[in-house]
Amino acid sequence: MFDPYRFARPLLHRLDPEDAHELTLRALEANVVPPQPRGDDPILRTTLFGRELSNPIGLAAGFDKNGRVYERMGAQGFGFVEIGGVTPLAQDGNPRPRVFRLPEDGAIINRMGFPNEGAAALEARLQRKGRPSIGIGINLAANADSRDPADDFVQLATRFAPYADYLTLDVSCPNVANGQVFLDPSCLRDLLARLAAIPWAVAAPALVAKLTPDIDDAALERLVGVLLDARIDGITVSNTTRARPVTLTAAHAAEAGGLSGRPLFLPSTAMLARVRALVGPSLTLIGAGGIASGAEAFEKMRAGANVLQLYTGLIYEGTALVTRIKRELAVLLEHEAVHQN
Ligand SMILES: Cc1cc2nc3c(=O)[nH]c(=O)nc-3n(C[C@H](O)[C@H](O)[C@H](O)COP(=O)(O)O)c2cc1C
Repeated sequence: MFDPYRFARPLLHRLDPEDAHELTLRALEANVVPPQPRGDDPILRTTLFGRELSNPIGLAAGFDKNGRVYERMGAQGFGFVEIGGVTPLAQDGNPRPRVFRLPEDGAIINRMGFPNEGAAALEARLQRKGRPSIGIGINLAANADSRDPADDFVQLATRFAPYADYLTLDVSCPNVANGQVFLDPSCLRDLLARLAAIPWAVAAPALVAKLTPDIDDAALERLVGVLLDARIDGITVSNTTRARPVTLTAAHAAEAGGLSGRPLFLPSTAMLARVRALVGPSLTLIGAGGIASGAEAFEKMRAGANVLQLYTGLIYEGTALVTRIKRELAVLLEHEAVHQN
């Protein structure tokens, strides 16, 4: 199939990654990005917090921070989109440059620090555009200079509950001081208690916590214990990593920030399997980190993911990647179904 991204990529990758991203968002807004083929194999159908999805492949947080293009991503092949991270007030994030391509490693390092237009701007867009047919999550984060990060989450959850199938608490951002506060189990417990006390005007939203891979097994067990005690609805495994595998070869490998893409696949998948073992069979797990093929999507599902998310793979392959992953994943799931019967 003709893939326009093969022609666009060399041009985009000559630009600073953020400028390339802005161009991509503008092309999507202008509706000039050709859609991916319609119609998903029925074996890919699933549900996420009660919402039926035609496939389990989601767009991870960070791509559509301000809700500019989420309604276009169904036509690009995704079953759901996570908008954000959004903070209560608009903020600039860290100084640029703050996103780096590591092409030889199939990876990205970012230290964006949640630049975004703030909650009011996002809510205005959500109101104007309404709900598309794909699943919608909204990724919530505290302002970098917030004196009460838990209150930021309470404000955001209250505001965005009517607009999403689930809300993600990004309690694992490696790039802002406030992103790490909730690694302390007592802070996380307090946050979840404050969220549980919200007098929801609409049905209480499904709450998902997004975890960092940069914690040891004992800390992970403690955090998951707190999440289970608070009856969390789901867990995303994982955010980017501050670790730098020795295998990295690209020039920007030493930049500070969170590493995503291919080098994140193994550690995030191993962590996913640990989390599945800790939470039992029924909790919803969203698997993210380095997915760039149907085989990797399948491996994440076998490690315990109910649905999947990706971002970095798109930077290298465009949305044709989503179509390829779905095609390959359907074959693997069909093969498995045949052999189970
Ligand atoms: C440029 C960039 C920005 C991101 N911004 C966010 C964010 O705002 N909130 C969040 O929870 N995760 C953010 N992430 C992390 C992704 O959602 C995802 O968890 C991670 O990149 C692993 O998936 P991948 O290897 O497919 O990219 C960002 C990732 C990248 C590359």
